[in-house]
Amino acid sequence: MDAEEWTTYVNESFALSLVRAKADEESLSPEEAYDGFHPTFTYPIFGDEQKVYGYKGLRIEMKFASASLRQYFKVNYKERLPPSSAVDDIEAKLVEAGVLLPDHTKDEETFRKQIEDEAATFKPFGTKMNSYSRRISHELRPDAASNSSWDQKPSAGPTRKSPEPEPDEDLELVEFEIWHATWKTPGFKEYHRRMQLFILLYIEGGSYIKEEEDEWEFVILYEKRQRKHSPDVWTYHFVGYSTLFPFYCYPEKIRLRISQFVILPPYQQEGHGSALYSTIYQYVLTSPRIAELTVEDPAEVFEDLRDRNDLKMLLNHESFMREALGEHWGASTHGGPVRSRHNMSHHHTHHPPHHTHSSHS
Ligand code: ACO
Repeated sequence: MDAEEWTTYVNESFALSLVRAKADEESLSPEEAYDGFHPTFTYPIFGDEQKVYGYKGLRIEMKFASASLRQYFKVNYKERLPPSSAVDDIEAKLVEAGVLLPDHTKDEETFRKQIEDEAATFKPFGTKMNSYSRRISHELRPDAASNSSWDQKPSAGPTRKSPEPEPDEDLELVEFEIWHATWKTPGFKEYHRRMQLFILLYIEGGSYIKEEEDEWEFVILYEKRQRKHSPDVWTYHFVGYSTLFPFYCYPEKIRLRISQFVILPPYQQEGHGSALYSTIYQYVLTSPRIAELTVEDPAEVFEDLRDRNDLKMLLNHESFMREALGEHWGASTHGGPVRSRHNMSHHHTHHPPHHTHSSHS
């Protein structure tokens, strides 16, 4: 028997999707595809080769309720070899890795009902830190609207956003909210167990943080939609999150370290990562107890994001620009001063491991 034909590269066969209640799906524009995205990494689950053996025509389906992240799971295949130690038990491996949770369902109808029941009642955990809004067109157009409630705007993108929101029935206001939580936030520990799998699937070297470490802080980004035919109903949809760990900083402050940071693929390249990072940055600037913001072992894409945003902030920093450019710094320079001169240093420090970095080779 040819072993190759029974071997599947998992990442392509593993389809993830975010599912909304029927009434909320109506509001989605055609280009907003929240289904059929794939993991970038599955080696923590299926081994270095990211392959499984024993199936032909394999498709692993994992759906998430877009708000609560409750799970639906199904393994589809055309053929499977008889169970043996060589044949991978996909479900067992996902459970063992803490990706598939014990309360998942394999029944579409049960899953649908869960979503319908909770969509309008789900509320984010913790306290709201920030928000911004966008107008999204239901037709693809080269320029759509974007505005932001704080000064570090996500940059206007090539589609969907334009500087001037027009009073157009086709343009729908979509809000995004960023919330802050800790382990003490009621219900959050359980919710975190539902989000953490995205760290394994999208951050190279990523691993779960320890619930016993009390100090962790979390910032979570949600899309907030107004229900089309019931405008008093707002629903939330998970977009991404970051974990932050405070280290002692002599003599009486803390150094906050961004440890994990992920925006789900359907929302990437739209400025949400920048919005989340800027919110954390502003949080640090406005918290007297925090002296420094650092990043743990940043991926190259994250370094890009940080550099772009830090540069934007410096360009908006009046006294920095005055010092840097001297007399050349003029009235045409836009933006106002930032509030303090905290050291936003970017070296990554080597502290005891908190979650990651048995670097994947
Ligand atoms: N429309 C279109 N494109 C835009 C818009 C917009 N409105 N705004 C920004 N962009 C562009 C940016 O210019 C940027 O382009 P570039 O890549 O050519 O420089 C790009 O989109 C990315 O910027 P954002 O959209 O702000 O970032 P995004 O939301 O895509 O998030 C992130 C970036 C977090 C790295 C995301 O890709 C991700 O989660 N990746 C997987 C996980 C990961 O690698 N995380 C970091 C690990 S390191 C750590 O955890 C400390």
